[in-house]
Amino acid sequence: MTPTIVKVNKLQLSQLQQLAIQTFKESFTDANHVDDLKEYITESFSMEKLSKELSNPNSVFYFAKINDQEIGYLKINVGDAQTELQENNFLEIERIYVLEKFIGKKVGQLLLEKAIKIAHEKNMEYIWLGVWEENPRAINFYKKNGFVAFDKHIFTIGSDDQIDIMMKLKL
Ligand SMILES: CC(C)(COP(=O)(O)OP(=O)(O)OC[C@H]1O[C@@H](n2cnc3c(N)ncnc32)[C@H](O)[C@@H]1OP(=O)(O)O)[C@@H](O)C(=O)NCCC(=O)NCCS
Repeated sequence: MTPTIVKVNKLQLSQLQQLAIQTFKESFTDANHVDDLKEYITESFSMEKLSKELSNPNSVFYFAKINDQEIGYLKINVGDAQTELQENNFLEIERIYVLEKFIGKKVGQLLLEKAIKIAHEKNMEYIWLGVWEENPRAINFYKKNGFVAFDKHIFTIGSDDQIDIMMKLKL
C-alpha cells in the first residue's frame, strides 16, 4: 500500500513528538552515548519547541501515513527558519525520518519527492541538508537522488560534536 503524505497540523503535536522521538532513538541509539541522546531529545523534541516550529510559517512538517498510522515525517524550512545558509532561494530539509520497520520501502523517497515538489512550486534554486558523516544509508539515499556534498559543519548531540556533511540538489 502506498503511504499518503499529509501536512501536520497543530492538533497533531503529540503524534509528531512521539514519532520524532521514536525515529531518532531507532536511528541513533546504537552509535551514540545514551546521555547525549537524552539531552538532544529533551531539547529538540519538547512540546514547546515543536509547537513553536509548527506555528512558524516558514517551516512545514508532513507525515507519511498508512492506514491512519504515522510511519515517517519530513520537516522543511525556508527563509529564516533554515538552520543555516538562509538564502531566500534555498529550501532546507531539516528532518526526514521513517520508522525502522518501514525503512527501505521507499517511504523516505515519497517524503523527499514531496520536498522537491514544494521547492519547485516555490521556485527555489537549491534544496540543501546536513547529514551525519557516519550515516551511510542516508548519504547514499541522497546521492542516489542527485544531492552532492559541498561543505562540512559541526552538529552537536548532547556533549558530542559530530561532523555533518552538507549536501545540496540543484533544481
Ligand atoms: C534515510 C531514509 C529517510 C531513506 O528512506 P527509505 O524509505 O529507507 O528509502 P529507500 O526505500 O529508498 O531505501 C534507501 C536504501 O536503504 C536500503 N535499505 C533497505 N532496508 C534497509 C535496512 N533495513 N537497513 C539498511 N539499509 C536498508 C535500501 O536498499 C535502499 O538502497 P537502494 O535504493 O540502493 O536499494 C530512511 O532510511 C530513514 O528514515 N533512516 C533513518 C533516519 C535517518 O537517517 N534520516 C536521515 C537523517 S539526515
